[in-house]
Amino acid sequence: MFTEYRAGDWDSYRMDYHNPHQAVEPLGQEIAVVSKALEALVAAGILPHADYDHDKLLEHRQAVAERFEIPWTAITPRMQRLLYAINAIKQPQVMIAAGVFCGNTFISNAGAAVGPGACYEAKDLVGVEIKPEEAERAERNVRRLDPTGIARVLAADAVDVVREHPGPIEVLYLDADGDAARGKGIYLDILQTAWDKMPAGSIVLAHNSVNCAERLQHYLAWVRNPANCRASVNVIIDGEGLEVSAK
Ligand SMILES: C[S@@+](CC[C@H](N)C(=O)[O-])C[C@H]1O[C@@H](n2cnc3c(N)ncnc32)[C@H](O)[C@@H]1O
Repeated sequence: MFTEYRAGDWDSYRMDYHNPHQAVEPLGQEIAVVSKALEALVAAGILPHADYDHDKLLEHRQAVAERFEIPWTAITPRMQRLLYAINAIKQPQVMIAAGVFCGNTFISNAGAAVGPGACYEAKDLVGVEIKPEEAERAERNVRRLDPTGIARVLAADAVDVVREHPGPIEVLYLDADGDAARGKGIYLDILQTAWDKMPAGSIVLAHNSVNCAERLQHYLAWVRNPANCRASVNVIIDGEGLEVSAK
């Protein structure tokens, strides 16, 4: 079933992409919006509950602000909290994030299991970035937060990585913008390549469900088709959006 959660102020909530650590609203407001989004995911049967450690999220946030080199990012504080919470609740042993740029999107997911925000132990958390110089920076950033190597960044095409990964992939995060031919349409290629390795109940997260909805139309139609995903929620908490779907 397809549903939508829309925060009342989603289109006026704005961050400076070049100053991502600046607070954009009172913390209580951020927590309330994300809690409602999590409750919508519980109501859809995608998450078992909406509880996560708020202090750990702040420890994660501070470590990223101190240790990561981020030239720009479109991950808002609300989105960072939502991604962290989904992973903290779902606790995937294997999570793959496709198109991680400098690593901020990846660590927003992986930070639930590594670094000072860790609340569980994972097995393999893989960030994939096709541009070697960006992958190098992302790996450098991630190493400053996770010395263990459980979270790692590969310089590769995400389609190849999910094809070659043994799985099971319990959380798949999509943010790759493809090439001139594929563009954001690559989300569907990555998901369909990973699909057989994703067990029932696994979750796929697609960034830009709002501002790239047109370019993602084939992807969104596929995950919103009950023949494919048992539930899909368009979480509209900022101008980018996140489609959260469960197998
Ligand atoms: C727009 S960025 C994502 C930025 C992210 N939303 C943030 O705010 O930090 C998309 C990234 O996907 C990468 N990319 C494009 N195609 C890819 C592919 N096939 N596999 C892995 N990464 C890919 C691009 O190089 C780019 O760094």
